[in-house]
Amino acid sequence: MSLLVTLDHVHKLHQLGDQTVRALSDVCLEIDRGDFVAVVGPSGSGKSTLLSILGCLDQPTRGHYLLHGENVFAQTKSRLSELRNQRIGIVFQNFNMLPRLTALENVALPLFYRREPLRNPAATARAVLERVGLGARIHHMPAQLSGGEQQRVAIARAIVNGPDLLLADEPTGALDTSTRDAILALLRELQRAALTVVLVTHDLEVAACARRAIRLRDGAVVGDSRRCDSA
Ligand SMILES: Nc1ncnc2c1ncn2[C@@H]1O[C@H](COP(=O)(O)OP(=O)(O)O)[C@@H](O)[C@H]1O
Ligand SMILES: [Mg+2]
Repeated sequence: MSLLVTLDHVHKLHQLGDQTVRALSDVCLEIDRGDFVAVVGPSGSGKSTLLSILGCLDQPTRGHYLLHGENVFAQTKSRLSELRNQRIGIVFQNFNMLPRLTALENVALPLFYRREPLRNPAATARAVLERVGLGARIHHMPAQLSGGEQQRVAIARAIVNGPDLLLADEPTGALDTSTRDAILALLRELQRAALTVVLVTHDLEVAACARRAIRLRDGAVVGDSRRCDSA
């Protein structure tokens, strides 16, 4: 297996007025390409901060993030945007659809930020919506879709540029149990098709679908276990 992600002694301090909050403390982590990793821990343990750094949305206060061996935060702004657009997809608990755009338009959006534009972005977006099981809903507005359907659109948008790394912050937190399980099955399917998935959750049933679980407490890694039947 090849290494996709390395976090090397990563620290993150948040400034809140005159208070400094230590969100991550000396995190060292390696993630293999094609793995399915859950990041678990109580509220406030630094899970979302870790995911923001992996998604290049936030920069560590100290330490390095290597993606394919490339030192992410040493890159130029334009290279960083390219990494964010092409290599990484992110989904959140609340789907974050643009409400005035159809499912198809939401999914096509990241295609317009590519350095090399596609000839037919609508066809690409449609194919990805079909892949996540929403081929019959492409012209729906977000308000006309259920929570589970909106999360499928969000996942389609996250993978439309063919990233290596799919990050998900509590992606099933707003869903009922059966919809949750269907979304987890979709993530597993994408991971088996060669995507690396990192999923943040405080739900242990959700974490159980991952092959590896990293446990955070007070911003530090306090556990790292791999399921023995993992394939
Ligand atoms: N933008 C921010 N400004 C100040 N403090 C923050 C910010 N984001 C997170 N924190 C603090 O950092 C710690 C870790 O937060 P977070 O990463 O959101 O944890 P989790 O996702 O595990 O609940 C918490 O104490 C939180 O209050
Ligand atoms: Mg969080």
